[in-house]
Amino acid sequence: MFAIESSNVSKIYKNSDKKALDDISLQIKEGQISTLLGRNGAGKTTFIRICSTQLLPTSGKVVVFGDDVTRYPERIRQKISIVPQEGRPLRALTPWDHVYNWLKINGEKKDVAAQKTTDILTRLELYSVKDIPALNLSGGMKQKILVGMAMATEAPLLFLDEPTIGLDPVSRRQVWSIIKDWKNKGISIVLTTHYMDEAEILSDSIFIIDKGRVITKGNMADLKGTLNYHTRIDVHTSKDINISDLKDLFGSYGKIVNLSSDSVRLFTFENTVRELSDTLVHKNLSFSVTPITLDDIFVNLVGDRDLD
Ligand SMILES: Nc1ncnc2c1ncn2[C@@H]1O[C@H](COP(=O)(O)OP(=O)(O)OP(=O)(O)O)[C@@H](O)[C@H]1O
Ligand SMILES: [Mg+2]
Repeated sequence: MFAIESSNVSKIYKNSDKKALDDISLQIKEGQISTLLGRNGAGKTTFIRICSTQLLPTSGKVVVFGDDVTRYPERIRQKISIVPQEGRPLRALTPWDHVYNWLKINGEKKDVAAQKTTDILTRLELYSVKDIPALNLSGGMKQKILVGMAMATEAPLLFLDEPTIGLDPVSRRQVWSIIKDWKNKGISIVLTTHYMDEAEILSDSIFIIDKGRVITKGNMADLKGTLNYHTRIDVHTSKDINISDLKDLFGSYGKIVNLSSDSVRLFTFENTVRELSDTLVHKNLSFSVTPITLDDIFVNLVGDRDLD
């Protein structure tokens, strides 16, 4: 079964004449981590709000675990949990209050709620501040309260709309670890993020949304196939060789993108790397060679086509 099946979904907000979603048809598999990627305003949050029964589609149909979102929102609400994009914890309440009370509202018994609250706060490194009101906590700690609340319920479908925004690199990894554990418990996860490393590490399936439409979908291997090149080489200028020299010298090896005033990025094929490296060494240029990342794929698909 699919966790979510969306057929020809469009959304035009009341005060707008533009389609925030334009004929979205996609299927999100159960038990997977599915990631929506797209530029600001692409429609990710709109799609999540429709799937989580907070917003009605203008046209089209969304089915969550077999139930239509417009006909059976109550049934769906019992099976989902969400970290909203712009959520804020209540100022006067502590991390413990937020998570524990939320679990109680969701029907957990006191001792189970207390145990789950302790576990999730510990994993998010919030246990030591569990009794401090949210207004006295840092921005990242407040965000982690929202993550803790949504994840503690262990609902079968979890929506995470930019869950790691504002989190430090260690905290982000703690959240990733919980996300992976929840997937292993069979929980279906819909994630949005602007951190391409996060998407690459976590996603089983990726949907790239642009101007309200799904323009590409697949796993990482499928997405890598959308770019003709496999390798990128960043080359720095030297005192003898400037940017335009670099472009002239290496343009024929692949696609050149200007990275900054003193370096260019060349997308190329694995089999030309040896020859190119030899040339670069010979010319005494400093450079680095790395495989193509999701970041490159994303920019190629939805970025400014005139980057070079
Ligand atoms: N309440 C609203 N009323 C009118 N238009 C809206 C509303 N919410 C969003 N929009 C518009 O819908 C489009 C999609 O917005 P949405 O928030 O879904 O984008 P997003 O992909 O989540 O972007 P971001 O990465 O910035 O969070 C945008 O053009 C936005 O201006
Ligand atoms: Mg959003």
